[in-house]
Order: sequence, then structure tokens, then C-alpha cells
Amino acid sequence: MKTVSVHASRDYAVRIETGLLDHAGEEIRKLSRAETAVIVSGDIVWPLYGERVKASLENAGFRVLHYILPHGERHKTLETYTGLVNFLCDHRLTRSDVLIALGGGVTGDMTGFAAATYQRGCGFVQIPTTLLAMVDSSVGGKTAVDLPGGKNQVGAFYQPLLVLCDPETLQTLPDEEFRCGCAEVIKYGMLGDAAFFNSLRRTHVRDQLEAVIEHCVTMKRDIVHEDEFDTGLRRLLNLGHSFGHAVEKCSGFSILHGQAVAIGMAMMTRAAVEEGYCDAEALEKLLDILSAYRLPTACDYSAEELAKAMLSDKKMTGSTMHLVVPETVGKCRVHSVAAFELIDWLRAGGAV
Ligand SMILES: NC(=O)c1ccc[n+]([C@@H]2O[C@H](COP(=O)([O-])OP(=O)(O)OC[C@H]3O[C@@H](n4cnc5c(N)ncnc54)[C@H](O)[C@@H]3O)[C@@H](O)[C@H]2O)c1
Repeated sequence: MKTVSVHASRDYAVRIETGLLDHAGEEIRKLSRAETAVIVSGDIVWPLYGERVKASLENAGFRVLHYILPHGERHKTLETYTGLVNFLCDHRLTRSDVLIALGGGVTGDMTGFAAATYQRGCGFVQIPTTLLAMVDSSVGGKTAVDLPGGKNQVGAFYQPLLVLCDPETLQTLPDEEFRCGCAEVIKYGMLGDAAFFNSLRRTHVRDQLEAVIEHCVTMKRDIVHEDEFDTGLRRLLNLGHSFGHAVEKCSGFSILHGQAVAIGMAMMTRAAVEEGYCDAEALEKLLDILSAYRLPTACDYSAEELAKAMLSDKKMTGSTMHLVVPETVGKCRVHSVAAFELIDWLRAGGAV
């Protein structure tokens, strides 16, 4: 079993192993004396893996309840969150009990936020079942729900007790969703590791799955260790996200998060080349790898539409926006721009 130790306001382990789902109960029991475990899962993931996790938890002596969320970003809302915390209250859950997020980033973000806030905080374990959630969202403690005005507008930093990644679950993940995870994997290479980036071009993520998950989690662990609360270095992880969130929002969430991140990275790198911050070869390499993974690199939204969506995003500090700008493959920096400059950056990135 591969294990990455995360050191943050709470220390925890990320364990990666095929078949780990069946050992979830014993792994969680080592850390929690909870009487009740509530598995929170989506309506697609629960029928696939719910009973296995439930059986494992029962074998470890937990009383197990489950709560099923409707799938999709559209349901990452305060309304869905309210339904979940009311369920916890109705079943008299206490702070010493544990919530288990079984699913992708949407399930993890919402369950984490419920765990952070229900009775001011209860135990929380992540069992990510998408590549994106394994390499990114399940680690680092960002939890949130969306508002009509923007993504992740209500949330908390709240670290899990444990993260269990079972790569076998990715066998049922639709290819389009797997490729979304690849966008986040490519992001890690682009923001901080050229050798890793090049390895992804040589060997497909699918053919080095456990090693890729371990590498990305380790990179994220190191960044979170330096800047858990996202005031400096952690902003680098937002590469592709400022433009990407705007693309996602303009599409009414029909463009998936990972696809939007791919578009956002490509646009930002195009703009960085135009503005003279980045070498042209880096853009060529990025477009090449994104197309090799069949990820989109452009969108039809106008610079005005995207700027409007961005201005409601929480990555604004006052009237300044922090853009993560590539300098070359494996090196990015945070560049602050005034709100009125955004349109130019978006046009330089290829927006119409
Ligand atoms: N907290 C963070 O640090 C962080 C980081 C990156 C992204 N995010 C958030 O993560 C979310 C995106 O996560 P995602 O890409 O995992 O999307 P998702 O949670 O919507 O899952 C994608 C789809 O795959 C299905 N699915 C999940 N696992 C499956 C499996 N094993 N087999 C079959 N189907 C499966 C889900 O039901 C869903 O329909 C966004 O809301 C984004 O904002 C959070």
C-alpha cells in the first residue's frame, strides 16, 4: 500500500491501494471510536460501491447509515447541504460520529462542508472514486457548496481524518470523467514538475495510475503544508481555474470541471505567451498533451461574458485578481491584475 502523510491543522494519511474499499472499516476503526458512520454518496456511486463499504464498516463494528445525494455540480448547493445536515440531526448524530464521503469531488466537497459545520465539526473520511477527487479534491481540506452567483462561495477549510483511494473504482468511471481527472494531473506537471509532465506524454495516466495518484497527492501535500489556508503558494493549484470556473459557469455546468480546467490552462498559457511571460514552446507542449488526452483547449464564450463570471468568483481580493501564469512547463507564478485588465487577458487567451 502506498501512503502519503499530510501535515496540516490535522495530520492524516492518504492511502492508495487496489481493493482498499473492502478494508475501509478496519482503516477507519484505527482512527475513530465512533458509534455511527454515515456514508454520504451519490446516486450513481452508491449502487456501485455502497454495499461493499457498508459491509466493511459493519464488520468493524460501526452502526452504518447512508444518505444519497443527486449527482452533478448542479446539486452542489445549500439546499442539498441542508437536506444532509437535517438527516444527521434527525438521526441524532453526534460530534464523535463520522461522515464518509464516497464519490467524486462534488460528494467530497459537500460532505466535508457538512462535517465541518454539523455541531461545529465531526469526524470525516474521504473515499474518492473519481481520478480528479483522488489526485486533488479529497486532499487539502477545502470544502464548499456553490451559490447561484459562483462556485464554492460557501465553505470551510476542514481536513479529513483519512483519505482512502482505491484505483479499482476508476474502472467504472466514464471515460470523459477520467479525462477530466487527467486535466488536473497535467496541471500538476505544468505548475511544478516538467519531468512529471513529460512522463504523462510518454506513458498514459491509465498505465501508471497508482504512481500518478501518489505523485500528485505528494505535490499537493507539500503545497498545503506550506500554505494550508490559501494565502500564497497554494494559489498555484488554481492554474487554469480562474478562467476555468468562468467557463464552467457560462456553460451552466454542461462543461465539466476538468474540461473547464483544461480550457482555462490553455487560455492562460496563450495569454502568458502573448503578454511575454511564457515561452511559446510551453504552449505548444501544453496544447499537444491536452489534445493527446482528448481535452478541450478553447471555448465559444466572449471575453465580456467570461469576465463577468470571473468577477463573481472568490479568487478576487478587493478589485485585484490573482492569476496563475505559466512561465514554462513546470514553472508558474501568481500575477495580480486589476479587474479592468481581465478583458485583455481573456482576449489574449483566445476569447472572442
Ligand atoms: N476541494 C478541492 O480542493 C477541490 C479541488 C478540485 C475540484 N473540486 C471540486 O470537485 C468537483 C468535481 O469533482 P469530480 O470531477 O470528481 O466530479 P463529480 O463528483 O461530479 O463526479 C463526476 C461524475 O462521476 C460519477 N462517478 C463518480 N465516481 C464514479 C465511479 N467510480 N464510477 C462511475 N461513476 C462515478 C459521479 O456520480 C458524477 O456523475 C467540483 O465541484 C470541483 O469544484 C474541489
